[in-house]
Amino acid sequence: MDQLPPDVEEDDCLPDYRHLFCPDLLQGKVAFITGGGSGIGFRIAEIFMRHGCRTVIVSRSLPRVLMAAKKLTAATGQRCLPLSMDVRAPAAIMAAVDQALKEFGKIDILINCAAGNFLCPASALSFNAFKTVVEIDTIGTFNVSRVLYEKFFQDHGGVIVNITATLSLRGQVLQVHAGCAKAAVDAMTRHLAVEWGPQNIRVNSLAPGPISGTEGLRRLGGPQARLSKMVLESPLQRMGNKTEIAHSVLYLASPLASYVTGIVLVVDGGCWLTFPNDIKQLMNLESTSAKL
Ligand code: HXC
Ligand code: NAP
Repeated sequence: MDQLPPDVEEDDCLPDYRHLFCPDLLQGKVAFITGGGSGIGFRIAEIFMRHGCRTVIVSRSLPRVLMAAKKLTAATGQRCLPLSMDVRAPAAIMAAVDQALKEFGKIDILINCAAGNFLCPASALSFNAFKTVVEIDTIGTFNVSRVLYEKFFQDHGGVIVNITATLSLRGQVLQVHAGCAKAAVDAMTRHLAVEWGPQNIRVNSLAPGPISGTEGLRRLGGPQARLSKMVLESPLQRMGNKTEIAHSVLYLASPLASYVTGIVLVVDGGCWLTFPNDIKQLMNLESTSAKL
């Protein structure tokens, strides 16, 4: 039986860490991580830094990324540049990438992890709500990838990992906005892998399942009892943790995956195969309000 890697619920670094991969796997590399100030993105930054990587973490909230960078540097001894930026704003992305290049001289890895989501029945979803999620998840991923390509990757190669989801594989209730947005990102992964492969740019998606200690789970997990039952009936009978996701992203971003491009790596303990698509839940929620 595999030993579960350690994790902590909050956006804090791990008190102890035992390397499974070679500790200098990303030595000398620089990673640009959107959504790197919290949840899964924070742990990705930490695990990368524990493998020798310097990081740029970006999100809308400057206090959030400032605080995160402080913790990450203290725990790992690596440099971390925190920047405020909205993935929907191309001019702000260009400025942030310029600043990152000025600071580190290069960017090797892009992790598109920023996203927005909430539970809402399609019939109650406002036009702007659907658009907002697509703008953050899909268009945001394109915007940042496009800027990184133009400013660095086209001449030097690079690696992109897009954090997506399994929502659209079976058509999850209350998730038409996020399911469509993430499915489009998986399509983008394949398109860009084909188009940018000749310039030595690898592009992959990683689709997590339910991950403990995250905003995603808090927003989308639903009633605790129902979630526990679904998880217990899934193949590995447990939720994943942020460290497990970060280890899989590390694999995709590292030279261990040098011949891997255009794939969607599902890291969900098999949950998408067995989670029930509970229509009754939709009926209950529809009778409440639009904002759930
Ligand atoms: C219905 C909602 C809503 C809700 C907002 N809206 N929240 N509709 N239910 N709970 C509607 C608003 O009414 C508005 O439409 C439109 O969405 C835009 O809302 P704003 O608040 O103006 O948007 P913005 O400030 O840009 O914020 C984006 C956000 C917000 C997505 C709405 O929640 C956010 O910033 N989230 C970031 C963090 C996050 O979501 N983390 C979880 C990621 S987990 P109207 O018509 O009123 O103008 C994840 C997991 C995927 O992605 C897979 C899991 C298995
Ligand atoms: P999270 O902590 O809320 O991460 C989302 C991050 O994106 C936040 O740091 C947020 O910071 C940033 N962000 C949101 N909108 C942004 C914007 N417009 N511009 C720039 N940054 C923005 O949630 P999480 O659960 O860890 O999710 C991380 C990723 O994993 C997401 O892509 C999500 O879809 C995916 N995922 C999660 C789960 C899960 O179980 N948690 C399952 C499947 C997939 P600011 O608010 O400061 O901008």
